[in-house]
Amino acid sequence: MSIKRIAIFASGSGSNAEKIAQYFAQHPSVEVSLILSNNPQAGVIARARKLNIPVVLFDKKTFTETQKIVELLQNQRIDLVVLAGFMMLIPEPMVQAFPQKMVNIHPALLPKFGGKGMYGHFVHEAVVAAQESESGITIHYVNEHYDEGAIIFQASCSVSSTDTSESVAAKVQVLEHQHYPAVIEQLLA
Ligand code: GRF
Repeated sequence: MSIKRIAIFASGSGSNAEKIAQYFAQHPSVEVSLILSNNPQAGVIARARKLNIPVVLFDKKTFTETQKIVELLQNQRIDLVVLAGFMMLIPEPMVQAFPQKMVNIHPALLPKFGGKGMYGHFVHEAVVAAQESESGITIHYVNEHYDEGAIIFQASCSVSSTDTSESVAAKVQVLEHQHYPAVIEQLLA
């Protein structure tokens, strides 16, 4: 059986990237081959180094105006592109290069609280402001619009009137770390 190869894109801390990499560290048929970022200050870089996973950094121009990153992924025989806190819109050619082979995790129950500008604390602040009774995660395929691809998996947590955006973020992150690696494994089975 050939090894399935994952590339993870992250722009920030990289706690999801780390959990995914740890989950597959001893896996017989799946490996995290590459971690890529547009942000040289991203915390994900240090986490990748500790996990001995190659890091590729790129700038906005390279990502949006050339095919260098798509070609790199193809040369590396990547089977699944995983976005984990990646803040850039995916250019059309990259979406086309990985049909149903690129996924993202959003820290809310799409289609609510998604779209441009809805990331990180903004999402949880909006959920609290809307006095929602629940929030959660959405794992979905990626297309050329923010947070609009077909939904693969959702998990929810309760939100009460005493919750803050920080306490919601903490509950959502538990769901992220608990479910993203296993959902990825199912997609590659
Ligand atoms: C997570 O909330 C994830 O749902 C969203 O971006 C955040 C990434 O967090 N896509 P981290 O960098 O993996 O800690």
